[in-house]
Amino acid sequence: MSPTELASRYEQVRETLESHNQQHVLTFYEELDDAGKAALLDQIDAQDWAALADLVQQYVVREPDIKLPASIEPAPYYPAEPTAELKTKYDEARALGEQMIRDGKVAAFTVAGGQGTRLGWDGPKGTFPASPIENKTLFQLFAESIIKVRTKYDADVRWYIMTSPINDAPTRAFFAEHDNFGLPAEAVTFFPQGTVPSFSTDGGALLADKGTLATNPDGHGGSLLALFKSGAIDDMASRGVEQISYFQVDNPLVRCVDPLFIGLHALDGAEMSSKMVQKANAAEKVGVFADVDGKISVIEYSDLPDELANATNADGSLKFNGGSIAIHVIALNFVRKLNAGAFGLPWHRAIKKVPHVDLATGAAVEPGAPNAVKLETFVFDALPLCEKSIVLETIRADEFGPIKNAEGSDSAATSKALQTDRAARWLESRGCRVARDASGNVEAAIEISPLTAVEPTDLDNDSVPQRVNPGERVSL
Ligand code: UD1
Repeated sequence: MSPTELASRYEQVRETLESHNQQHVLTFYEELDDAGKAALLDQIDAQDWAALADLVQQYVVREPDIKLPASIEPAPYYPAEPTAELKTKYDEARALGEQMIRDGKVAAFTVAGGQGTRLGWDGPKGTFPASPIENKTLFQLFAESIIKVRTKYDADVRWYIMTSPINDAPTRAFFAEHDNFGLPAEAVTFFPQGTVPSFSTDGGALLADKGTLATNPDGHGGSLLALFKSGAIDDMASRGVEQISYFQVDNPLVRCVDPLFIGLHALDGAEMSSKMVQKANAAEKVGVFADVDGKISVIEYSDLPDELANATNADGSLKFNGGSIAIHVIALNFVRKLNAGAFGLPWHRAIKKVPHVDLATGAAVEPGAPNAVKLETFVFDALPLCEKSIVLETIRADEFGPIKNAEGSDSAATSKALQTDRAARWLESRGCRVARDASGNVEAAIEISPLTAVEPTDLDNDSVPQRVNPGERVSL
């Protein structure tokens, strides 16, 4: 770009920024070389500053008002174990789901764009070693589950992975380094999600360095945009995919592609469906499924008034018992529909630590305490936009053992114990005697590779040991 072109672009950009009171992001412009100047102008130009100004007013400079809807009831759900009346429907759903997988109508989809700050892992979260004996990474466990589904159903199940601009390159490199963990290269597709500027609490966009806006990934809700914008949806459609099996990168116990769930969702003609677990207790920090004005919704735990969180049924059980574990089936057509109109999920505000440049001195600031507002959208906010949505209960110990924290709850240690316990139960269901202490804890380490089994019936009797003794390490 010639100096005159650069100068005229600069003027345009400055005017736009001034009209939204964000001209400070050009403070160090004159210190940049021409390439740096052009890059900063490109980044600024790529933002919709008028829309951001609205966001700043609504979400950044003040806490948005949470308007609780007039009518909130617990959401209806399909129980994990079918009642007598539902037995035939579950059988039919499972058969339908299996047929859809065989016919290549289902793709697996992982949202892996989060920053994983709580875990303190230096790299994409999917590269975290998660399994109890073999130390397989989260990505390897999912890859092997998908390989198992591909071989079991002789099906071309594809895997789409949403990264962020920050972890896209290292994620791709990790897969390349490991030969996609045995999946054919064409079966794995990566695409980065979108970002939004991070703001100081007074509404000013922050600079990450003198020539770059500070940005953050736009939340897992951004997946519904990125699937479309990246061309992933068109790619899926060209392969005959109709349903997307959505899961988070942090849960090694997830059933990546579940025929029953997919089948129930399809049988009921749902657009986006969810799995739920019984909440561990009233205070558990998970979103709850609710029927809000006739629409299935997830209400964030922080938005659920205590009296509703603590409300009980006549038998003493929690009234709002359905915890969201972020597992969904999403119809391809629903993603298209959302993107056809003026699609917008509500934004959520989080106060986080964001390193930035001090505008007065140009020095880099590493904040010791949360200093900035990050805006994100949540995928479950699309649920009320569905014509039809179902919820299927799943047993927590079978399908939910996330790794979110370095220590304590939802850590690698708790997840590995849950993985071992599930493996033990699978072996026990095939007649194996597993050493357990008086409280029922497994006294050995057990790992069942997803290549061996993604459900207990995949285990063949010859490979199931007769017993697992205390202290033994059994890897199947
Ligand atoms: C989330 C849910 C919570 C649910 C729990 C189940 C929210 C707000 N809360 O909590 O209701 O009970 O999971 O484990 O979602 N991600 C992206 N891009 C982003 C942000 C996140 O891809 O911009 C991905 C992450 O990589 C991860 C997943 O979304 O796979 C969850 O993100 P995270 O922020 O860790 O959610 P939680 O707070 O753990």
